Amino acid sequence: MDEMSWPSQSEMDAIRGKVAKISGRDAKEVRFVVSPYRICPLGAHIDHQGGTVSAMTINKGILLGFIPSDDSQVLLSSGQFKGEVKFRIDEIQLPKFSNGSNNSVQVKNSSKSEEESNWGSYAKGALYALQKRGNCLKKGIVGFICGSDGLDSSGLSSSAAVGIAYLIAFENANNLTMSPSENIEYDRLIENEYLGLRNGILDQSAILLSSYGCLTCMNCKTKEHKLILPPNFLNSHTISKKNAYKILLALSGLKQALTTNPGYNRRVAECQEAARILLRASGKEGLEPLLSNVQLETYEAYKSKLEPNLAKRAEHYFSENKRVMKGLEAWAAGNMKDFGKLISESGLSSIKNYESGCEPLIQLYEILLRAPGVFGARFSGAGFRGCCIAFVDADCALEAASLVKNEYCKLQPELASQIGQESAVVICDAGDCARVI
Ligand code: GLA
Repeated sequence: MDEMSWPSQSEMDAIRGKVAKISGRDAKEVRFVVSPYRICPLGAHIDHQGGTVSAMTINKGILLGFIPSDDSQVLLSSGQFKGEVKFRIDEIQLPKFSNGSNNSVQVKNSSKSEEESNWGSYAKGALYALQKRGNCLKKGIVGFICGSDGLDSSGLSSSAAVGIAYLIAFENANNLTMSPSENIEYDRLIENEYLGLRNGILDQSAILLSSYGCLTCMNCKTKEHKLILPPNFLNSHTISKKNAYKILLALSGLKQALTTNPGYNRRVAECQEAARILLRASGKEGLEPLLSNVQLETYEAYKSKLEPNLAKRAEHYFSENKRVMKGLEAWAAGNMKDFGKLISESGLSSIKNYESGCEPLIQLYEILLRAPGVFGARFSGAGFRGCCIAFVDADCALEAASLVKNEYCKLQPELASQIGQESAVVICDAGDCARVI
């Protein structure tokens, strides 16, 4: 395994040429931010409640080539979206939405044309976050941003990867040095305040803290994290053959929200309502209504007070926390079978208890579980669109990928035709953290 397979020299050369052309400067001056996509094997939908999550990055993601401007001008082009984004780095940015309820769902799940006109939001959001915490920026950038082919809107957290890429580029151009924790907070400001999505800190923590080959464990309440090496880790470029795995990304072809889906923020509100009821029942209504503020014993004692929907959300939270703990042990012992089994159980709880996911993603999940060498699978991200991820025995990855492609094509021919056979199932490796190279 080699995390250096991304970005490739040719990808970088192409971007270097584009930035040099737009800026009229020498190609040698182009700097790069790599900001990888992330997966969350265990710990789905619990980050916003202060739960403990596991994550790692993959060797695919966002590449931002940039040159600091001579003045305050920001000028950006994109490999995915049309048009240019222009603004001044000393323009004061205000939140795009004034409240965090339904508007945010439109941002996260907007149509292609809305995304087309909104793609500059993440750069402006990054500026908003830096300004909000008192940083005064003077230098803009000329940049070209591009995501790995076919993987935008895939539930791999491309939005956090984009936000982080802009944060790091603005900081680099202005000689500001920020710690990963500061950038985790800045990305939270972009998503929660600037865009109004009530998500947790899983995505940006994974992108900023991960280290090649390790599983990142993040306590989203205390913000403490640790990196867990598997026992077969040889060095920063190699994992021994024994238990070697690949990560499969099986794309559903769903890029837009299903019109019937209840939305991310509604699930967050349901978890909080469950927490409120449980805290009130145990005389602790003074605490913030987050499920991480409810003790497991309190949940067990008072769960009968929750109406069925809320009971399911709480059950997902408490059972997922247990799976994360067991999964960390399995990973540290190099037990991919147990680790995988827990991932699949987590996937099932997302479907049954959290009631996210949709038919095509559930079909992909079921196909993956039947594929040769698959240790475990689940859908990625919020579950309304995008892809399912699986950990698979490295020796079986090709065979598994081909079975998944064929079977999915039979069940969802229309969606499969929109993806194209080549990129329908992507085989990838673990990645590293976001950085300037
Ligand atoms: C999205 C959110 C994250 C997290 C996941 C689900 O990616 O941005 O904060 O809640 O969904 O685990």
